[in-house]
Amino acid sequence: MSPATRDADGVTQASGDSALAALRGATTEVALSPLTLDVNGEQRTIHVPAGTTLLAALRDDLGLTGAKYGCGHGGCGACYVLLDGAAAAACTLVAEEAVGRSIVTIEGLGQGDALHPVQRAFLEEDAMQCGYCTGGMIMAAVALLARTPNPSDDDIRDALAPHLCRCGVYGRAIRAVRRASR
Ligand code: FES
Ligand code: FES
Repeated sequence: MSPATRDADGVTQASGDSALAALRGATTEVALSPLTLDVNGEQRTIHVPAGTTLLAALRDDLGLTGAKYGCGHGGCGACYVLLDGAAAAACTLVAEEAVGRSIVTIEGLGQGDALHPVQRAFLEEDAMQCGYCTGGMIMAAVALLARTPNPSDDDIRDALAPHLCRCGVYGRAIRAVRRASR
């Protein structure tokens, strides 16, 4: 792997990106350590600086960009993944904390070309507009239905409560989760 630099947020600076790096402030040469994560059923080894968030590891090092960067501090739900089956904000976890645990991202939900029933239900209910929040909502819904196969509307609202949607698809998202539970 070629040497890499990261800024204070752990975002990789591409080579030749010096102008952007200068705008962001000084970068620091850091040692990269190997880390093996169980992602979507595969063992994936990456090389990241200590303290890299799970979200940065997934997006920057594994190319799994379905989990989105929104707030960066656990407050919007855009980055949710499944961690041992429970919905979790990947932006608040250090990648090392996920070693030895099962990580599932939105890319790992379907089987080949077949969508997961929750993904299908979101499409059928047209429960997305820009789609930025959609992956996170779907991961929360998958976790909910795994623990509560027949959720009440209140259960669904509670599960989706951490997820901010600037497009306002909340009503359709609730209907989608209800549809997926049938
Ligand atoms: S980006 Fe992780 S919760 Fe907002
Ligand atoms: S669909 Fe745009 S933020 Fe939710």
